[in-house]
Amino acid sequence: MTSNDVLKFPPGFLWGTATSPTQVEGHIDNEWTQFTAQDGSRCHIACDNYHRYAEDIDWMAKLNVNAYRFGIEWSRLQSAPFGPLNQKELARYIDLLDGLRAKGITPMVVIHHFSNPPWLNAAGGWTKASAIPVFVDYVHKLVAALKDRVYIWNTFNEPDTYACVAYLLGGFPPQRRWKLGQFRRVINHMARAHAQASRIIRREGAVNRKPEVGIAKNWTFFHAYQRFSLWDRLTAFACHYTFNKFVLDAFLGRFRQRASTFIGLNYYGRVRFHHFRAMIPASGTPVKDIKDFGFVCDDMVERYPEGMEKILGYLRRKFRLPIYITEHGSASADENFRATDLRQNLAALHRSIQEGADVRGFFYWSLLDNFEWQFGYTKKFGLLSVDFKDPALTRSFKPLAEVYARICRENSISNNGN
Ligand code: FCB
Repeated sequence: MTSNDVLKFPPGFLWGTATSPTQVEGHIDNEWTQFTAQDGSRCHIACDNYHRYAEDIDWMAKLNVNAYRFGIEWSRLQSAPFGPLNQKELARYIDLLDGLRAKGITPMVVIHHFSNPPWLNAAGGWTKASAIPVFVDYVHKLVAALKDRVYIWNTFNEPDTYACVAYLLGGFPPQRRWKLGQFRRVINHMARAHAQASRIIRREGAVNRKPEVGIAKNWTFFHAYQRFSLWDRLTAFACHYTFNKFVLDAFLGRFRQRASTFIGLNYYGRVRFHHFRAMIPASGTPVKDIKDFGFVCDDMVERYPEGMEKILGYLRRKFRLPIYITEHGSASADENFRATDLRQNLAALHRSIQEGADVRGFFYWSLLDNFEWQFGYTKKFGLLSVDFKDPALTRSFKPLAEVYARICRENSISNNGN
């Protein structure tokens, strides 16, 4: 194999995997607790990572990852606005962080990932500006408690997805539909909370390191299937405008650019419209119809690896900030398909780095098969499978885990498909 066949990543590149509390921990009291997913399931126990985090860290070590992006669940830590942090729950997260450190795994902590404490939901959640000071107070306490262990902070995961699915599409609690005003308010409040939280994180600092702070933005490309279809083009443009442009402007535009030291990018692919219909499995379009159109999809969205290079080029030119790929992954029972998808996206990422994008790391979504929100346990993104029928919730490597473990160990991918 010539060296051209091997795509090397920069030294010190972070290779990680990602999870979120509601999806893996179990035993949580937030708005998802009573939520029933489309497959009739709930997140009550999920992967029981709450009790099995030590085992999951061992699995990560076997994957050779040197980074882990995970969330700290706000509802566990504060039982009332401006309250003290629950010391027992904090100690569990500290133990998790120490376990990661012992294996040389750098943590990236997500502060908000699609869930709030019950008292915040009861007060109207993020549709109300009163969410901002309570969040900032929480961040202040959390950062003070963890600054000797954490230096990379992700304030909000995908505010766009959260506000869209909870207030426009009705998929996430509180399951509102077409409340465009509420969608916009949620985004604006979160953007203000991010700017204030970021100031605190930078002021508090991190022991021995410069703190890093940013959001994770989901970027989806929205296109019309037929270029000449005016209506589909308008629909695609409206989606792009609302979910990409408006959200990026709110968090990173004009005066807000300095609120972030990096951009977190969650990139999965593309949505194409045909007669107003989003041609993706996640919106219920039958897989047969999608195949008839010749689209390559996983169980969720259309794959579009060229998009990785396009969006990285755009973000690099527009914001000139370091970037982490805070999520990429696929859900499918076909592991060969998933391996190809991973290689194609990493090859595009590598090209972007060659072109000058300052990408510092890549986090595979997800470590485990888990509770995929409104879809329940049917969408399997894990590098590891979890046997949900077995009370021991036994984990095991899928073939893709072996592929990823090799990539992480070698800090490179081979370009010839092996
Ligand atoms: C992202 C979410 C993550 C998971 C993946 C598949 O939008 O951040 O929790 O649902 O998609």
